[in-house]
Amino acid sequence: MAAAADFSSNGLPADVVAIARSVRHVAIIMDGNGRWARARGLKRIQGHEHGVESVRAVTRHAARLGLAQLTLFAFSTENWKRPRTEVRTLMRLLKRYLIDERGELMQNRVRLTSIGRIAGLPKDVRRALRDTEALTAGNPGMVLCLALNYGARQELADAARRLALDALAGRVRVDALDDDALEAELARRLYQPEMPPLDLLIRTAGEKRLSNFLLWQMSYGEFHCCDMGWPEFREEDLEEALRDYARRTRTFGGLVRR
Ligand code: FPP
Repeated sequence: MAAAADFSSNGLPADVVAIARSVRHVAIIMDGNGRWARARGLKRIQGHEHGVESVRAVTRHAARLGLAQLTLFAFSTENWKRPRTEVRTLMRLLKRYLIDERGELMQNRVRLTSIGRIAGLPKDVRRALRDTEALTAGNPGMVLCLALNYGARQELADAARRLALDALAGRVRVDALDDDALEAELARRLYQPEMPPLDLLIRTAGEKRLSNFLLWQMSYGEFHCCDMGWPEFREEDLEEALRDYARRTRTFGGLVRR
């Protein structure tokens, strides 16, 4: 007979709670909304709408498990290439989420933040984002970071430009920096300098690509890929990903100690 699951006082599986609390940062590439919808005879837009349900469920669960940071790839710098109606729908969903979710974020003590070229988003989305960030700024729980109009190459290029401008203005002596200090100066100019390195990156819908997401932060992160489309991804799938992560041996380029 299988051993009974061990649950912590709040009814969550104790092993997953322990893993979640040992992890600094999990990110998700939420892929497969369109395929999920098509397979059910629905419109792509309906796939995105169901995807918002997954965002809600997974965020709430991650916060309850005690995860420190969850970053979601919600809109990439490349997603502007999609048909205008789809882009407009994604922006509408995003704005609605940012407004409707405020009560839920406050209740779960989640602090909402963002990364990306935010100035390139529509004005109403920027306003909803800024207001939700301000409202949740004092929350002591999980950091939920939305990657919006985000590309990792663009993030690195933006950081390099800032460093070059600071060097030109005489604020940094790039020629006097040793290798570690140069790395630290660049890291300080990323969109969210305090963002912890990624421990785990989850990608749905069977794809195994990084797709211009968090190149710097993912240097030693672990991948967990699953076949289901994002609209199907729920609490137990996050738990499965965390258990998979806990089975990995991480050496960061060193050797395993035996
Ligand atoms: C990828 O699926 C998904 C996206 C490009 C957008 C993700 C957006 C959401 C889940 C909804 C809005 C987000 C928030 C945070 C409220 P796809 O359309 O590329 O799927 P496909 O590869 O099957 O076509």
